[in-house]
Amino acid sequence: MELVPIGQLPEIGVIPKFMFAQTLRADRFGMPISAYQQEVVPVPEIGDDEVLIGVMAAGLNFNSVWAALAYPIDMLQLMQQRNENDLPYFIPGSDCAGIVFKKGKNVTNVSIGDEVVVQGGWYDEQELFIRNGGDPTIGKSFRAWGYETNFGSYAQFCKVKHFQCLPKPKHLHWDEAAVYMVSGVTAYRMLHHYIPHNLQQNDVVLIWGGSGGLGSMAIQLVKAAGAFPVAVINNNSKVAFCEELGAVVLNRSNYTHWGEISGEQVLPETQEIWRNAAKPFLKDLLNLTNGRLPKIVIEHPGANTFPTSLYVCDKNGMVITCAGTTGYAGTFDLRYLWLYNKRIQGSHYANPEECKMLNNLIHEKIIHPVLGATYSFNDLPKALQLMHDNQLPCGSTAIKIGYA
Ligand SMILES: NC(=O)c1ccc[n+]([C@@H]2O[C@H](COP(=O)([O-])OP(=O)(O)OC[C@H]3O[C@@H](n4cnc5c(N)ncnc54)[C@H](OP(=O)(O)O)[C@@H]3O)[C@@H](O)[C@H]2O)c1
Repeated sequence: MELVPIGQLPEIGVIPKFMFAQTLRADRFGMPISAYQQEVVPVPEIGDDEVLIGVMAAGLNFNSVWAALAYPIDMLQLMQQRNENDLPYFIPGSDCAGIVFKKGKNVTNVSIGDEVVVQGGWYDEQELFIRNGGDPTIGKSFRAWGYETNFGSYAQFCKVKHFQCLPKPKHLHWDEAAVYMVSGVTAYRMLHHYIPHNLQQNDVVLIWGGSGGLGSMAIQLVKAAGAFPVAVINNNSKVAFCEELGAVVLNRSNYTHWGEISGEQVLPETQEIWRNAAKPFLKDLLNLTNGRLPKIVIEHPGANTFPTSLYVCDKNGMVITCAGTTGYAGTFDLRYLWLYNKRIQGSHYANPEECKMLNNLIHEKIIHPVLGATYSFNDLPKALQLMHDNQLPCGSTAIKIGYA
């Protein structure tokens, strides 16, 4: 078999020679709308520890925007420099749900025909640190699948390591199953991994971008732990969405103190200017929480919000970050850090154990994927452009591939 149309997959186990894919190439890097193009490419070969998945639906992630822009890193070039890809095209995509079509000879955890979701933490199991029990996310070989590796989910078939496959919850439709993993496990680790600052019952947690992929999963995880989520959004149209998930809500458009702070803003004679501008946000936050400050602040916007995150974080609390969407200069007044014993913690994705824990919460219907929209395969560049422009509907976004 040569190729099947988009909207269907071949009979299970039958592998066509070619597949449709949304690809990036170096001469098209730039805005997602023009960087991504549909092409017909060969279906990839798999190794002994790998699995070929027929993709039913893919989930969109912000890393696909970074991949299109080749900013801050040209991933195609980096993969070539690492000798991990010698093809001139790159198929991104770090989330999907699909069916096992083929497996390598050492794979025992899945069978042909199994319905699975893919978790995007790729690594080399033979790496000594990992073999000795080290957390794979800090191993040298750790890669964000479909961002740092080729053959991600924006195609009819994708290639994964066996441990990336987890059982698909039966109660979910393909598009719902495709969208929760990256956001969910990243939020899960941010909230539960960093002892002693791991989430406790009744803790107040401030969540930037409460209506986004990461934010909507974080709200639910906080709520499920019996704690108190405060979501930040930029527009009143998103309030009901966050409230339905269980959060109280602050609209950042009502305040003016955003952005990096400079050395000049923290001099004794000037420091009051920034603090006075930030105080209304703090005051409204305290009103919502009955006077309690956040023990954990879930950071990802970066430059725009970091000074505020550290300012409003409780004594002995933690600002934890996994991104710098609005810029990488995370500035703050050091005095808020040391005088109040606060912690700044970085966090990247999650390990397989954490992925299983999150997947169990979805199976048990304690956490639910929050699907905002499902786009056709043809519209993938448009959907990623909307993500770049912060114009997507609330929740996460899926692309249907293997069904009509
Ligand atoms: N390191 C990791 O493992 C990891 C994993 C997942 C995601 N990430 C990163 O985390 C970031 C968020 O991902 P996502 O999937 O949640 O993206 P998303 O669904 O596009 O949501 C991003 C949210 O950020 C908020 N935002 C946008 N501009 C902002 C600004 N200027 N100030 C404050 N908030 C702003 C938006 O909320 P409002 O405009 O309503 O405030 C939006 O809901 C991305 O950079 C992504 O690459 C990292």
